[in-house]
Amino acid sequence: MRMTLFPRISIIVACAVWLVAQVAPAESPRERLSLDAGWKFHLGDIPLHSFPGGQGIALYGPDFTHSGAKAGHTWGAAARGYDDKSWRLVNLPHDWAVEQPFDQSAEKQQGYRPRGIGWYRRTFKLDPADRGKNIELQFDGVATHCTVYFNGTPVEHNWSGYTSFYIDVTAMARYGNDVNTIAVRVDAEAMEGWWYEGAGIYRHTWLVKRSPVHVVTDGVYANPIKGKDGKWTIPVEVTLGNTGSNSASALVDVGVFDSVGKKVAGGRSAAMTVVPLDQSVAKLVIRVPSPQLWSVDQPNLYEVRTTVLRDKKPVDTVNTTCGFRTIRFDAKEGFFLNEQPLKLQGTCNHQDFAGVGVAVPDSIWEYRVRKLKEMGSNAYRTAHNPPSKELLDACDRLGMLVMDETRHFNTSPEYMQQLEWLVRRDRNHPSVILWSLFNEEALEINEEGMEMARTMTALVKRLDTTRPTTGAQNKGQLGRDGKANPKNSAQVLDVVGINYQASDYDKIRAAYPDKPLLSAEDTSQIMTRGEYVTDRSRNVVASYDDVFGGWDKFSGARNSWEAIAKRPSLAGGFFWTGFDYRGEPTPYGWPSVSSFFGAMDLCGFPKTEFYIRQALWVKSRPVLTLVPHWNWPGKEGQPIKVMALANCDTVELVLNGKSLGEKPVDEFQMVSWEVPYAPGKLEAIGKTKGGKISDFTVETTGECVALRLTPDRKMMAADGCDATPVTVEALDKEGRHVPTANLPVEFEIAGPGVIIGVGNGDPNCHEPEKGNKRSLFNGFAQIIVQSTKDAGEIKITATSGNLTAATAAMQTQPYAPRAFVP
Ligand code: GAL
Repeated sequence: MRMTLFPRISIIVACAVWLVAQVAPAESPRERLSLDAGWKFHLGDIPLHSFPGGQGIALYGPDFTHSGAKAGHTWGAAARGYDDKSWRLVNLPHDWAVEQPFDQSAEKQQGYRPRGIGWYRRTFKLDPADRGKNIELQFDGVATHCTVYFNGTPVEHNWSGYTSFYIDVTAMARYGNDVNTIAVRVDAEAMEGWWYEGAGIYRHTWLVKRSPVHVVTDGVYANPIKGKDGKWTIPVEVTLGNTGSNSASALVDVGVFDSVGKKVAGGRSAAMTVVPLDQSVAKLVIRVPSPQLWSVDQPNLYEVRTTVLRDKKPVDTVNTTCGFRTIRFDAKEGFFLNEQPLKLQGTCNHQDFAGVGVAVPDSIWEYRVRKLKEMGSNAYRTAHNPPSKELLDACDRLGMLVMDETRHFNTSPEYMQQLEWLVRRDRNHPSVILWSLFNEEALEINEEGMEMARTMTALVKRLDTTRPTTGAQNKGQLGRDGKANPKNSAQVLDVVGINYQASDYDKIRAAYPDKPLLSAEDTSQIMTRGEYVTDRSRNVVASYDDVFGGWDKFSGARNSWEAIAKRPSLAGGFFWTGFDYRGEPTPYGWPSVSSFFGAMDLCGFPKTEFYIRQALWVKSRPVLTLVPHWNWPGKEGQPIKVMALANCDTVELVLNGKSLGEKPVDEFQMVSWEVPYAPGKLEAIGKTKGGKISDFTVETTGECVALRLTPDRKMMAADGCDATPVTVEALDKEGRHVPTANLPVEFEIAGPGVIIGVGNGDPNCHEPEKGNKRSLFNGFAQIIVQSTKDAGEIKITATSGNLTAATAAMQTQPYAPRAFVP
């Protein structure tokens, strides 16, 4: 079967970025088929004794796995013939934890969601014509520990919820009507982190069929480099495998294509022999004259098309995206992209989103990166684990630098394999600029940690010499004497990553004069969106950037950035966090179920910190926002703290037409007033020496009379994957957004779309995230709408009591769905 995923031509611009990303490789004999649809799912374990004749218990005891003693003959739910008719049908990505009701006795750090154990099963057939091909199963991510069984044989034990694994099942596959069976036991009782990690097969799964002589998975290394002579080359390394019975002579043809598909360079390797059941590596260097550079503002991408030729015939093709850019961390001057200084304006983020948990649709990754860019961010730390591939693809496309982090600080073979997988998978992404080997480890302060960091760095360097290593270290760089601690991991890392410790920036600088420094984590600001008075009885935190974890005096958004911005030798910082996430509900516990740290809530609705960062980070245009809202009935005459978040010189505040004066704006702390409340219109006028450059108004609104629905995009691909957040708001009779609305809302959807989740960003809300209801929280709620494979118009309706209902229409364009396994 041919992979033909090219969209029809009439895709409108709003959709373009997303759709381009899905364009498949050019014609290739290889098939990469989605396995996401049609899994059977059972929540809970299936004890072995439920299997008739399950004498395994007697023989091996209740802890014995379903492995069985003989290949092809596992027991219980792992067995080929197990009856799963009563199990639920699910499509992946799937997170069963987000479907569970909150439970105060469940783990707080996991957002009080019970996780437990679950089973998945799926069958598929292979055409007899596939016999002889290389057959591989690919799992992009399963939370948390899992065992995979294929045709009655255990084929994988994966002990990290963040690593992908690829299972070559060529020798075990069956053909024709002899059905293949995959069974997966997922143990999500295990915790790898102190945040919500979800449960289940939460990233994509694939079945890959390719020629016996083929490019192995993640087997292309094509990372452009600029030589000392200023010329660009792509040193290409291609690892070929051969699961056939005979030695094969093959060569590799490489073409480099620009964004409009024009071939700009190419080359061929020498012919080589690939021995059966072994691997060979082809190496060649492609010169690329005058490529367009990749940058955060102009993320120009190229495609490296690698084709394996046997007897002049193409037998396998792999397309790899790459970008031409240089990176450099300098001990004195910070970070340089393409030899231009660039302060890293970064965020740390976990990977869950409203309504869907960790089963994040690809297009929602893009949405999140877009929101961060809107805030002025140019860098993303994948705290504290390997990200999904789709996030990195979005960062490549949109121009977002990435600090790519592994989950485990561990030099044992199993964990080194995880690190190796990470580097092999991610080393072609132009967005990736740093490998992070750990976060806040107890051992980072001593010789043991130093040796571990040294060992891990050596592995990374064997695979990629172009990016530095770092670690997110919150202690131990300095000894008791305030000088460099000779035995701590910073000694062996390329870039010293500092978590918090802002009071020691200068001491660390002096102690490591030759090493680049980076704030790998800072800020830990806490805020509840739309709340302006901290109220411990309601578990809410005011949004004025004045309540934070208390890690040190530089906590908070403005203080942290001031400390970083004023030190040119610091490459920049990654603040904790861009988005709220489930779990870690500091400073509270139950009933708070998600964090307060985000500049945006779980849905991506901005909090005050979002506007602070915009004012701090955006230099190309005037930024001015006022907080709070201006609906304070009952507080007439009482002082309300008003902050202007602005990047101009002065701001004049005008209440109901009367000037309250003009104040200078501090570049970092900005400006605030205590304004006696009077309902009406509060206006800010931002000025520079040249006069007014910006303004912003908040108005007291009336009662809610109507709802409004605003899809983030009105056009989606009819591929059954594309998903779009839709904002739900309440309006007064003048059509103004009511920021204090907290109303129950119900949704209906008609046409080729489904609601896959709902949210409102309230960390204390226990309403279900699945279904068709959600309350507004301080003015906003969100539904996430996913397309089906039919093209047409999706119509959404929102209702709430007597309010005028809202409707929104979205179109889905014909679009060949991902090639999939029926
Ligand atoms: C850091 C840690 C993060 C998160 C944060 C909360 O020390 O690296 O994972 O826990 O604190 O402030």
